Amino acid sequence: MALIPQIIAGNWKMNLTLTQGRRFIDSLASGLVGKKLERKLLLAPNFTLLSGLIQGCADIGVGLMAQNCAYQEAGAFTGETSVAMLKDAGAAYVLVGHSERRQLFGENDDLLQQKAQAVAAGGLVPIFCVGETLEQRQGGEAFAIVSNQLRSGLNRFPCEKLIVAYEPVWAIGTGQTATSEDARLMHAHIRKFLEIQFSWGEMVPILYGGSAKPGNAAELLAQPEVNGLLVGGASLDPESFLQIALA
Ligand code: 13P
Repeated sequence: MALIPQIIAGNWKMNLTLTQGRRFIDSLASGLVGKKLERKLLLAPNFTLLSGLIQGCADIGVGLMAQNCAYQEAGAFTGETSVAMLKDAGAAYVLVGHSERRQLFGENDDLLQQKAQAVAAGGLVPIFCVGETLEQRQGGEAFAIVSNQLRSGLNRFPCEKLIVAYEPVWAIGTGQTATSEDARLMHAHIRKFLEIQFSWGEMVPILYGGSAKPGNAAELLAQPEVNGLLVGGASLDPESFLQIALA
């Protein structure tokens, strides 16, 4: 089995201004002094903060993710942001298919496949998000739904520069975390899918997201095939983000 270094990724969603983001990075930098951190840290601020945070993040070894992108390269697409623009602003990773994009902005599998391909073509790493709703889980469909999302979204994905995030929709922002057993079973399922689909499938980090916090991080991170966490609410406070990173 491949040894994959763990990743703690914070998704700030539509929160924090540049001033607040800079304060966060300063405080994270102070908190990291003298700590031996074995996990890679990533943050996804709003697009408008990327170029203003890149230096501070680079100084403390934190990578930047964008929360979304257009698949088109350039042109008359008012309000959209290309992969090349995100790269230029400092992003090295892009979240693709977050459930909020799927549910609130109608992003479907075809669009997400194009976005994942565009991110790879632009030289950045997609963090491809999958996860079932409560209704789907209660109907016994969770594994099939996640397989379908992976099959359509990652169809013909070209290389091993990919991260998958399992974020059960019912656990996002609800305070209700998947049990470590739920996470273990789904991550094993995703790993099997990736290994069957791709010769490099065992190399892909699989993150868990959904109400991850300092109190449950260690247990989740101890599960086989949980290669890190994608953290929403608890990533807005540098103290709790650091506690998760050190859990
Ligand atoms: P919460 O950690 O707030 O549940 O959000 C998870 C998430 O959506 C991360 O992308």
